[in-house]
Amino acid sequence: MDVAGKVVLVTGANGGIGWALVQELLERGAAKVYAAARNVQAVAEMAKFEPGRVIALRVDVTHETSVASAAAQCQDVDLLINNAGVNQCQSLLAADGLDSARQEIKVNYLGTLSMCRAFAPILTARGGAIANVCSILGLVNLPVNGTYSASKAAGHSLLQGVRAELASRGVKVYGVYPGPVDTRMTAGQEMAKATPGQVATMILDGIARDEEYIFPDAMSQDVHRALLHAPDEVERQFSAMLP
Ligand SMILES: NC(=O)c1ccc[n+]([C@@H]2O[C@H](COP(=O)([O-])OP(=O)(O)OC[C@H]3O[C@@H](n4cnc5c(N)ncnc54)[C@H](OP(=O)(O)O)[C@@H]3O)[C@@H](O)[C@H]2O)c1
Repeated sequence: MDVAGKVVLVTGANGGIGWALVQELLERGAAKVYAAARNVQAVAEMAKFEPGRVIALRVDVTHETSVASAAAQCQDVDLLINNAGVNQCQSLLAADGLDSARQEIKVNYLGTLSMCRAFAPILTARGGAIANVCSILGLVNLPVNGTYSASKAAGHSLLQGVRAELASRGVKVYGVYPGPVDTRMTAGQEMAKATPGQVATMILDGIARDEEYIFPDAMSQDVHRALLHAPDEVERQFSAMLP
């Protein structure tokens, strides 16, 4: 999909990859971007620079009424980017592991599903598309982020199912699988990280090329290649990263 002239909704748009996507969409000539966030003040401040082209929208993806209200207000969306996500940085058997798992499933899986369900009729009517920001950790579990990885694995399965259901309705579904990106989510973690801007560029390049699976940084591309050739070896390497 060429985003020029299109109307796009980005969830979790008040920072990190989400805000970088909003900026990149504007640069590529999107007609209008709904910058959706729980903290609507933050996006409203940023939207001042592009009045009319950026619309600040309050959306909590875990609240059915909030999602339904967004769909009712945004009937002109051509591309839905499900970017909102949380990472509690917990292992599965940690003391707080169950609480983290619940929160991550609620946002990363059920929230994304809720948005896909609410916008499917709109995107069907407009011949639109969905891009879900999953994670490379949805394809291999990183035990220190065990509950997050499991929620993103659910997100990967969700992507495949929604893609299958929407194919006959003419709606494309893109899956995005970043490696580490320098955002609030990875603050304080010492490792090589892509910048949000680099990742946003790669995501929109992938969508423009109509790539169903988008690996938007060097690390995710390396891990993806390794997973195709030796998935057991990748699992061993990731499992060795426990402290
Ligand atoms: N950073 C990485 O290394 C990395 C790697 C792979 C994938 N990802 C994925 O990339 C996406 C963006 O993350 P990021 O790195 O940009 O981190 P971030 O800066 O923490 O952004 C996450 C965004 O999701 C929003 N969000 C959380 N819960 C929400 C809810 N219930 N309803 C609506 N919005 C909600 C946050 O809003 P609040 O400000 O209100 O909390 C925030 O805007 C996430 O899906 C993440 O899993 C990130």
